[in-house]
Amino acid sequence: MPSEEAHIFVPHPSVSKNAFVSSSTQYQQMYKKSLENPEEFWGEIARQFHWETPIDNNRFFRYNFDMTKGPIFTKWLDGATTNIAYNLLDRNVRNGHGDKVAYYWEGNHPDDYSRLTYKKLLEEVCRFANVLKSRGVQKGDRVAVYMPMILEAVITLLACARIGAVHSLVFAGFSSDSFAERILDCEARVLVTADGVWRGEKLLQLKNICDQAMIKCSKEGHNVETCIVVSHLERVTAPKGGVMSRQTNKTPMTDGRDIWWQDIVPQASTSCYPEWMQAEDPLFMLYTSGSTGKPKGVLHTTAGYLLYAATTFKYVFDYKPNDVYWCTADVGWITGHSYVVYGPLANAATSVLFEGTPFFPGNDRFWSVVDKYKVSQFYTAPTAIRSLMKFDDDLVARHNLSSLRVLGSVGEPINPEAWMWYYKLVGHEKCSIVDTFWQTETGGHVLTTLPGAQPMKPGAAGFPFFGVEPVLLDENGREIKGEGEGYLVFSKPWPGLMRTLYGNHDRYELTYFSKFPGYYCTGDGAKRDADGYLWVTGRVDDMLNVSGHLMSTAEVESVLTEHHGVAEAAVVAKPHPVKGECLYCFITLTETGIFDDQLLRELKTHIRERIGPFAQPDVIQNAPGLPKTRSGKIMRRILRKIAVNDRDVGDVSTLADSSVVELLFQTRPANA
Ligand code: WT7
Repeated sequence: MPSEEAHIFVPHPSVSKNAFVSSSTQYQQMYKKSLENPEEFWGEIARQFHWETPIDNNRFFRYNFDMTKGPIFTKWLDGATTNIAYNLLDRNVRNGHGDKVAYYWEGNHPDDYSRLTYKKLLEEVCRFANVLKSRGVQKGDRVAVYMPMILEAVITLLACARIGAVHSLVFAGFSSDSFAERILDCEARVLVTADGVWRGEKLLQLKNICDQAMIKCSKEGHNVETCIVVSHLERVTAPKGGVMSRQTNKTPMTDGRDIWWQDIVPQASTSCYPEWMQAEDPLFMLYTSGSTGKPKGVLHTTAGYLLYAATTFKYVFDYKPNDVYWCTADVGWITGHSYVVYGPLANAATSVLFEGTPFFPGNDRFWSVVDKYKVSQFYTAPTAIRSLMKFDDDLVARHNLSSLRVLGSVGEPINPEAWMWYYKLVGHEKCSIVDTFWQTETGGHVLTTLPGAQPMKPGAAGFPFFGVEPVLLDENGREIKGEGEGYLVFSKPWPGLMRTLYGNHDRYELTYFSKFPGYYCTGDGAKRDADGYLWVTGRVDDMLNVSGHLMSTAEVESVLTEHHGVAEAAVVAKPHPVKGECLYCFITLTETGIFDDQLLRELKTHIRERIGPFAQPDVIQNAPGLPKTRSGKIMRRILRKIAVNDRDVGDVSTLADSSVVELLFQTRPANA
């Protein structure tokens, strides 16, 4: 038996006893029903929500996953109309949750915190929806959002949803170039941001970045007409104390285009009639990296996404009415969309919204926040866990974490060592860990264990969520049944699957459905063990996962070759103890290029500016030549071996010039 499979952890009775799904048998019954009778399974869930036009059972669920049979499509609840903001807010207020706290906001500085009830959130959303309407935003228009973790971010998304505008939130760690590219792609005319935000001791001037992005858009002939700016810095405590007034911060504001949120929102009316949306009308788009380098605008629609975010949240976190839930992900990622905003609010949950970092003011900030709000479900990423494991155990032990019941992990495979630390030190061997595998594209969790139902295996994602049918395929598209390893694909859609890539349905079909006709292809590999557990083994394409941020090698390579000193670049992932993977770049110089510290500095700065700080390479190696096939394809498999100094490179017979491999081994830089 492989050693990893020897470790099995049964859910603690205190977790399984009252869980929604409390045994494997119960899971199997529900799972079976979800596949055999989706109309009944999802229909019962849908009845908890409001439908302005009722659900038509004849059009409940239709799809085509086979390109040879026509265009790929997925439709759930076609014909029904609803509004997500109405379901998340008005419906909950009507059901008696008006005074319930929707969010505890915890600022970067521990002195800054506030709360927002469901009733108040509804009022604020209506106000901002009215403001957007007054600026000409209509149903179907895209609104670009570049926001920190503040309550106005949630308000903005829901205000868009209320009037049927499509929000396109870009993580506020992306550079102005990346942001401009995304604004241009979705042609947003309205942008919502904040002046800036403190992250630990660092100040991020968000409005400046937006200004640069808007200048770039104008040069391409696209003008953002309205930019609404939350004045945030003046209401929070700077890391060393004191506040920053609008005067000292001098945020640049352009007359006619830029307006302070605080100057217009408070005057707006607190009621706004919702726009009734077709089930398949777009709700939002969110960009994710594509292997060609150009970001993909993943599009999610209304009814299916609502059902799926709501249902996964309820069962995977086993959320009960008095629980306090905390997801540390930024709203800029899909995790933030589904499990900071839509999923929790659909369940009338109380969440913590945290603006800061795990390391400020001390390395125990996460644990002190768990203790402060008596958090019962805590959801974070393996990279965060690994970065906190380095510190003294006492930083965890000194806080009372007894309120915790479910611990979540997301973004990349969690290594068993980190899993054990999370389980023992944070969870005191009483909490269930849910290792949730999913993607921007899947809308919500697709593989995980349920906290009260199944035993856990460190490093295994587990089993499919309701409605999800995973299949493992070999290179020739043959199904691998039972134990084995292969391409992870899905044979039918669940309600939360993306519907298209914005403005590019061809690319959607090509990227996800062309490799194996009849299946949605995740781009990940997985293995199934003897007990049926699925273990995700990582990307099978040219993608990198650095601290949970997915990016393509092509994207980084094209940015490197923009430098006049670089003729060619090849980027591979190298394992990293904290980040999971880091970037190892090979560059071939141009005739005028000189490989020195200045070049390295310039390349690093350039990547920060063009993509974002998270894409900064750890190693850049001077490569007079690259291992290529006779047809000119770079063999990244060999570069990955060089990156880890593993001489077991395998077959090099297809290389045009194999001597380059030895040269690259010998000239690995000192920091590699
Ligand atoms: C890719 C998707 C899902 C929200 C955050 C990332 C990897 C994600 C896991 C996990 C192993 C995982 C996959 C996937 N991934 N979660 N629990 N175990 N791998 O969303 O940026 O769309 O990235 O992240 O490689 O394809 P994303």
